[in-house]
Order: sequence, then structure tokens, then C-alpha cells
Amino acid sequence: MQIIVTENYERSCEIAAKMIADVVRAKPDARLGLATGGTAGAVYANLIKEYREGRLDFSKVSTINLDEYIGLPPEHPQSYRYYMDHNLFNHVNIDKQNTYVVSGMGDIEQNVADFRRKVQEEPVDIQLLGIGANGHIAFNEPDSVLKEKAHVVELTESTVKANSRFFDSIDEVPRKAITMGIREIMSAKSLVLVATGKEKAQAVRGLIMGDVIDSRNPSTVIKLHHNATVIIDNALYELVASQKD
Ligand code: F6R
Repeated sequence: MQIIVTENYERSCEIAAKMIADVVRAKPDARLGLATGGTAGAVYANLIKEYREGRLDFSKVSTINLDEYIGLPPEHPQSYRYYMDHNLFNHVNIDKQNTYVVSGMGDIEQNVADFRRKVQEEPVDIQLLGIGANGHIAFNEPDSVLKEKAHVVELTESTVKANSRFFDSIDEVPRKAITMGIREIMSAKSLVLVATGKEKAQAVRGLIMGDVIDSRNPSTVIKLHHNATVIIDNALYELVASQKD
């Protein structure tokens, strides 16, 4: 696993965006695995900039997202479909038919089955990841076991609390989501995880220090990937280094 320590979050996102852009430049019909959340925002802003400056073409790109809340329709401002449309897809020349965010509405069992099938269609060339303060990747929450494939997940109290910053009140945060499974995430040809913020220090310590794979910190599985990069800023790195296990 490659670890890159940068001067700040903005630089981390520039580097992650460049990695994604390089994949698309080398393979114009690349399949991108995408994440939502606060951290990913500036990665997408950099990709939009590359597109506007004529250095990136999304016309043949396809995408698949990691997760979606159950119960939020695509037009809800906190749904991950809405996030992707507004933070990336509406600003570049991607064909929305080639973008996939699992639906959190209607027949959830069917949606999970569709998601699993969709993941299998074609390998992801590069998967962008964030990390929860509890170590989750996508919405694979800490547990005694991890699941291989897409599934319904009950969000932990800490995730609901962390994500309540995007909602008017904590009561509006969905308690359930559909997430890609661990094996599906790991089947991407390359992974790039960006982390920032002091609340992530303990989880990131588990990820970048020591050699333990621990389902109570799901991010640690990416140590097993042959082409994974973790990008963190120096402020977070210093905190990580000063944490106790
Ligand atoms: C969202 C996702 C999550 C987030 C994580 C970090 O699609 O996969 O794992 O990456 O919760 O979120 P932020 O960046 O908001 O701290």
C-alpha cells in the first residue's frame, strides 16, 4: 500500500483527481468507482476543472457508486444520486446513462440484486474511497464479520451522527443504506483513499500503521490490495503518529 502525505487537504484532492484523470486519459472508456461525502467534494472539483480546461473527456467514461441511503429519492438533496449529479455529472460531458448509483427506493431486495449484477459487469479501473471516523469504507460498518457483496446495512450511531451535519436534524438521517461489499470494492484494479480531519485519526492509524486486518476497522482490508494508495494531509498524519493503539 502506498501512503502519500501532503501539505493539506486541497493538495490531497489534487493528487487523487490527477490519479483518476490519468486513468481516463490512458483509457477513455474507463470505469470509475465513485464515493460521496465531504472529502470527495474537492476531488470532483478538480476533475471538473480538468474537463473545463480541455484536459479531460468523460464522453466514454462509465461510473458506479459505492452506496446510497434507503428512503431518499434521487431528487432529495442528500441522496447520493443527487450528490453525484450536482458535484460532478452535471458539470462534465458524461452520458448519465453510463452512471450508476443504486436506488434506495422501491423494491430494495431487487435493487441489491441489480447492484450486485452491475458491479460484475466490468471491473472498475480506479475506485475512489473515503473513510468514516469508525473506519468504514463505503457503508461497510465495523462488525465481527465483513460482507463480500452488496447488501443492506444498518448505519451505526456514529455514522448517523457524523452524517447529520448534512441534514437539518439528526432525525432526518436515514438509518439504513445499500452498500457495495468488501470483495466488490477490492475487485477494482486500483484504489485511492483520501482522508482528512482529526476525527479520522484513530481509524487511519489502524489503516497505515501496523499489519493488522481487523473487521472492526473495515478500511484495514485495503492493505491486501495490490494497488492501493492512501492520501492524507500532514495535519492528520501528525495526529495519527501521536495516537495510541
Ligand atoms: C460515501 C462513502 C463513505 C464516506 C465516508 C467519509 O459514498 O462511501 O464511506 O467516504 O463516510 O465521509 P466524509 O468524507 O463525509 O467524512
